[in-house]
Amino acid sequence: MAELRTLNFKPGTLNPTDMRHHPLDSQLFVDNRARLLKLLPPGALVALNANDVPPTNADGSLPIVPNADLFYLSGIEQEESLLVLAPDAPDEKLREILFLREPNEHLKTWEGHKLSKDEATRISGIRTVKWLSELPGAWRGLMCDAAEVFLNSNEHKRAVVEVQSRDARFIEDCRREYPLHTYRRLAPLLHQLRLVKSAAEVEVLKEAIRITDAGFRRVAKAVRPGVAEYELEAEFVHEFTRNRAKFAYTPIIASGANACTLHYISNDQPCGAGDLLLMDVAANYANYNADLTRTVPVDGKFTPRQRDVYNAVLRVMRASIAGCTVGKLHRDWTREAQLMMNDELVKLKLITTDDVKNAKPDEPACRKYFMHGLGHPLGLDVHDVGAMHTPFAAGWVLTVEPGIYIPEEGIGVRLENDVLVTPAGPVDLMADIPVEADEIEALMRS
Ligand code: GLY
Ligand code: MN
Ligand code: MN
Repeated sequence: MAELRTLNFKPGTLNPTDMRHHPLDSQLFVDNRARLLKLLPPGALVALNANDVPPTNADGSLPIVPNADLFYLSGIEQEESLLVLAPDAPDEKLREILFLREPNEHLKTWEGHKLSKDEATRISGIRTVKWLSELPGAWRGLMCDAAEVFLNSNEHKRAVVEVQSRDARFIEDCRREYPLHTYRRLAPLLHQLRLVKSAAEVEVLKEAIRITDAGFRRVAKAVRPGVAEYELEAEFVHEFTRNRAKFAYTPIIASGANACTLHYISNDQPCGAGDLLLMDVAANYANYNADLTRTVPVDGKFTPRQRDVYNAVLRVMRASIAGCTVGKLHRDWTREAQLMMNDELVKLKLITTDDVKNAKPDEPACRKYFMHGLGHPLGLDVHDVGAMHTPFAAGWVLTVEPGIYIPEEGIGVRLENDVLVTPAGPVDLMADIPVEADEIEALMRS
């Protein structure tokens, strides 16, 4: 099981110098650049930077998280890289340029292999690769010919931006050196593009989902009374790492009442007999993220009450998956789920019909037990970029993740699948991952 087995995903051959995942076909990035070019005005000049290596304490650092936009347009994950696009540059060779750190013996000894120019071309499909030392001169030339300059920034609505990024520093430098230029925001264009996944991107997402599925099945068999949440986290690490994947986000492995803390990540408690266990854990493969939540009974069998709550969540999930149709507005999709959830909570005797009637339209009664969003776009970011007020369109990938959290009963249930919107209707990309209560019990027995 360590190697790739999906039918459609065709991994490239690994070279000793490759990143951990198999190389993606560079055509994916060539096509993405072509999509961006269609949105640019004449004379546009575009630049976007790698993320910084995140510092920790003393001389420590964390592994770099590749910049999603840079990856989307080039496949490049290496630190300090810069992509420049000048589609109307008179010199054809300057229309697409990658600037990279120049490899040297010192870097090789301490950090290992850095991309050669040929390797960068093979990954990205970009023929002109220069070392960073050439950037100031080359950038000046391009700026002198540019009509408008598109620079990148993190414009996710919920982003907490307290630390200056490489892109932000680059913008400051440009504004200081070239104050008379017209600067434009690249982010809205990239958001528009990234919301719609190409067939090639969906294949990579499916690979992340396949690995996530394997992780869940492995862990389901390891769940038993007394096992610690962190021991289950270790099982996920094992399955994801051997499949060349990473965690898509910090895993939530929450037993009993811990599941009612929505962002529980300490994962340090023992799983108690009779409790439910909520696991919101998924893989990132080649920078594409899955996002899965399953809730299982620690001792392998749901109590009647747990099963009732579970099935209520499952019904809302199934109906909401069916609601992922072209043209739907996120607001209406959410509203429909909230109305369903109101009915389910009345049946579970958690709220009354009076509560439903008396609730304000913006604060439906179900919010007491289902207080988070129904789902979000998924892709190179877990909460992916894109304008959520536009109608769902073919190629969107959305999570569908209703939940019911009852702290007074020590019960938290969330279920989450990833769904592709197509003209022929929603495609549940996680349809093969066990979710019916009986399937979950059978899996845990096996
Ligand atoms: N795991 C993050 C989320 O479900 O949104
Ligand atoms: Mn999610
Ligand atoms: Mn999730």
